Amino acid sequence: MSSNTLRTIVTGGAGFIGSNLVKRLVADGARVTVVDNLWRGTLDNLRRPDGSFVIDVDRDFHKVDLTDFDACKQVIGGADLVYHLADIVGGVHFAFREERFIFRQNLLINTNVLAACMANEIPNYVYVGTACSFPKHLQMIDGIAKLREEQTYPAEPESGYGWSKLMGEYEAELAQRSGKINVGLLRLHNVYGPGVSFDPAHSQALPALIRKAILHPAEPFTVWGSGNQYRDFIFVDDVIDALRLMPSKGMNHGVIQVGSEKATSLREAAELIVQLSGKNIAPVFDEGKPQGDRGRVAVCDRARAILGWSCKVDLKTGLRRTYDWIANQMACPQAA
Ligand SMILES: NC(=O)c1ccc[n+]([C@@H]2O[C@H](COP(=O)([O-])OP(=O)(O)OC[C@H]3O[C@@H](n4cnc5c(N)ncnc54)[C@H](O)[C@@H]3O)[C@@H](O)[C@H]2O)c1
Repeated sequence: MSSNTLRTIVTGGAGFIGSNLVKRLVADGARVTVVDNLWRGTLDNLRRPDGSFVIDVDRDFHKVDLTDFDACKQVIGGADLVYHLADIVGGVHFAFREERFIFRQNLLINTNVLAACMANEIPNYVYVGTACSFPKHLQMIDGIAKLREEQTYPAEPESGYGWSKLMGEYEAELAQRSGKINVGLLRLHNVYGPGVSFDPAHSQALPALIRKAILHPAEPFTVWGSGNQYRDFIFVDDVIDALRLMPSKGMNHGVIQVGSEKATSLREAAELIVQLSGKNIAPVFDEGKPQGDRGRVAVCDRARAILGWSCKVDLKTGLRRTYDWIANQMACPQAA
């Protein structure tokens, strides 16, 4: 199965990862339909550098709230493949303040999209999970936790977000067992890159720090927590490579995680961002703020063996591209 000959729907296709995926699939020659309610995504994410849209927005974009099953069923149909990326995603502060909202929204979105795929006989469903679904006791140790997919159960994710994403994986596995649909489950670590949200209310650690560095000294360069918590940061192009491999190689193989397999502390990431800014900034570590899990790192043996995938973009290169993109967006009055 080659991704460029399939009629493809990308839910959440106006979001960060979704819009990068749509651009790549269109460049591959695929016809892609995007479904998104623009809760966090934007149509501007689907523009080329010259301002034109990569898809025919009037024909192939549907602004639909996927928590509404009837609306969902109307647009999730007539396709060979659904990449389901729509969900509520945000930074640590938002994720813990709005746990119940996120949990309910994501459960509804995920169950509706999958049920619509099955009702409308779409044969292939790719779901995107998160490393936040690993049990919290494995993430809260001092030291580096190298995690394998089989360590997911017994389950105890740290947040409502992690639980909601795990339930999405679980229901997809149930659907696969029915024999009526092929299911691909790709589980991601912390993704960054051009297209990422840097809106202060919902953004994740790296874009939030980049934004603060660009605004410094008008805004303090504060890192939440001790800075000693670490993450496995993966550049969006590497994620898109893995997503494109899923239809041909990753279906019905259970969860496959992708990450850089490298542990980077927030302190190290902050220092790299300061270097990119060219400014004389001393990061302030605010231990009164939540820092999320202490850390986890992917073991990508399954991604290598099943998909033939490997991570290619190192953090320094990826951060430079992300920094330049955010700086450009902030300099452009339309984006502001
Ligand atoms: N960014 C990461 O680090 C990361 C890590 C692991 C997994 N993921 C998963 O990848 C997927 C994409 O994440 P992202 O970072 O691109 O986030 P994003 O917020 O940029 O994209 C999600 C999209 O879903 C849309 N959406 C939200 N609620 C909706 C609804 N009710 N109906 C229709 N559309 C709705 C949003 O508008 C947005 O465009 C998500 O499923 C997320 O859980 C992301």
